[in-house]
Amino acid sequence: MLFSLPSLSQTQVKIADTAKNPRGMALEFKLPNGGLQHMAMLNTPIFSAAQPETFLASIQAIQPDPATGKPEPEKIKAFKASHPDSLAQATFLANNNPPSSYVNSAYWGIHTFKFINKADKTTLVRWYFVPQAGEKSLSNDEMKIAPANFLEQSLIEQVKLAPARWDMIVTIGIAGDVEDNPTVAWAAEREQVKVGTLTITGASPQKGADCEKINYDPLVMSDGFAASNDPILHFRSPAYAISFGKRMSEQ
Ligand code: HEM
Repeated sequence: MLFSLPSLSQTQVKIADTAKNPRGMALEFKLPNGGLQHMAMLNTPIFSAAQPETFLASIQAIQPDPATGKPEPEKIKAFKASHPDSLAQATFLANNNPPSSYVNSAYWGIHTFKFINKADKTTLVRWYFVPQAGEKSLSNDEMKIAPANFLEQSLIEQVKLAPARWDMIVTIGIAGDVEDNPTVAWAAEREQVKVGTLTITGASPQKGADCEKINYDPLVMSDGFAASNDPILHFRSPAYAISFGKRMSEQ
């Protein structure tokens, strides 16, 4: 499932595909032994909160003034000043226009995970998916004229012409690398290994599609994967369960 997600500048449920906020890609791998592996990623290398409290405060800060229905810039400014962990992703989004297409975007798993081999050896990892079609952003002019919601339809059209492919890159951490803070990137010189290729050969509108009935809880992991102590990673699981329940019961 590919997604446009809200950010500090947006409060409406339907987010314009031209808005400078994150896009996402959620994957569910079905393994031959019946196991499942989820990867729900964003097109930013880092997240906007080191702690769930920051995320909650960001949602509160973007609520419009109930009297005027308008955003309150002072509240947003105060939030940013009191939550420096929100700044790295905000800076990335400010400096990188949104992708021109889902197939021209990279997606990062962001959190640190652990790979555990048969001998019980643990390796710290992070992963991201790099589009074989290359990364392309909307220009400032394109952002002004692009339709509000063009990403889904253009994905459907693009994969009719040719499959969309991403290389999956695993970054290998070393002792001392940040494990529990998704707002901090690892050093660029860490070893990177291409472990596979993701290919999308067909796409359909999200409404009514099978993926709507999936809860992309990132703690659904197969054998050999384990979570780090990242508090955001652990917070996502119950948050997604509640959201999924509400989505399914159309609340
Ligand atoms: C405090 C942190 C976070 C909260 C509270 C949160 C909350 C949510 C909720 C409630 C949903 C909708 C789930 C559903 O209805 O099935 C969602 C979707 C999503 N989130 Fe998060 N999220 C957080 C962090 C993250 C991070 C760090 C990433 C990426 C690494 C991420 C990627 C996604 C993606 C890709 C989706 C769409 C999944 C789908 O297609 O169903 N989120 N998030």
